[in-house]
Amino acid sequence: MSQASSERIPTERLVIHNLARATDTRAGLAEDVRAGLSLSPKRLFPKYFYDALGSELFEAICLLPEYYLTRAENEILTRHADEIIREVDGQSLSLIEMGSGSASKTRLVIEALLRRQSELLFIPVDISASALETSSRVLLQSYPALRIEAYAGDYFDGLAALSEVKRGRTLALFLGSNIGNFDADEAHTFLCALRRVLNSGDALLLGADLRKSSEVLEAAYDDALGVTAAFNLNQLARINRELDASFQLRAFRHRVIYNKSAGRVEVYIESLREQTVSIRKLGMQIHFSEGERIHTENSYKYDLEGLSQMASATGFERTRTWTDEREQFSSNLFVCQ
Ligand code: TRP
Repeated sequence: MSQASSERIPTERLVIHNLARATDTRAGLAEDVRAGLSLSPKRLFPKYFYDALGSELFEAICLLPEYYLTRAENEILTRHADEIIREVDGQSLSLIEMGSGSASKTRLVIEALLRRQSELLFIPVDISASALETSSRVLLQSYPALRIEAYAGDYFDGLAALSEVKRGRTLALFLGSNIGNFDADEAHTFLCALRRVLNSGDALLLGADLRKSSEVLEAAYDDALGVTAAFNLNQLARINRELDASFQLRAFRHRVIYNKSAGRVEVYIESLREQTVSIRKLGMQIHFSEGERIHTENSYKYDLEGLSQMASATGFERTRTWTDEREQFSSNLFVCQ
């Protein structure tokens, strides 16, 4: 990509491409905040959760007792990573990960691959340059046979850049219920775009959270310690920092509802009173009534039937699914047709 700058870190085995573009025709934080808070109902966009603090808070969420997703997926990968990669044809694989974050679960797949092959190219894509840099350095220290070509950018910029990288047989990872943060149309568009980057015989390992009781789901997104509340409200703190806004964090609360008929957890920020907030860099005044909500995230929950349909509608086939012992979470192998 002409606008992308590549930064060489003093190791031969790491390249980080920064896809953040100065003259972006697509909206950045400022324009997305302007647009989202002008809507009725108001909304903010999930990719802005993950600044440096937000990425750290998300790591803390993954340690919470209520947030079973990470532990369940770790259990699956610990038990089955060797079997999972054996299902993908080919002697030697490259590994892509969309939304790699700290890449701690990725280690289980990397280790399984390095038991079978002598070298590995890992291509992580993440919105957080800081998370990418930290995780890449840690991985390279652990695995001398690893090379990393990382892309800091959103999923779609990452996929556009990936289509230009020459790779052999590839396994792509999209873990941790990231797919659930798309609605049905967005998930379809994303999977089609990913499929176009892959070749027939390549595969995607897709993490998908399974439907279950609203008590368990709501607790997973509204933990007793308040870490998820901090993660959610950090979006307002970020707008204060980056757009010179006057959100008083104590005048808002975190709110979570499992919408059973839509099969999704809905995450909101709710105004505790009537108030007006100014966003100076945008020259905007935003009015909130008491109880008014900003919708910040959806997290869709799946069943196996829905996952099969999603695969076949986007050029994949769901060939295998592994679950944790309690059947709370699923890891699905989608093979490119
Ligand atoms: N992909 C995660 C999920 O849907 C993201 C997430 C976890 C999240 N907890 C959250 C997003 C709370 C917003 C608010 O499970």
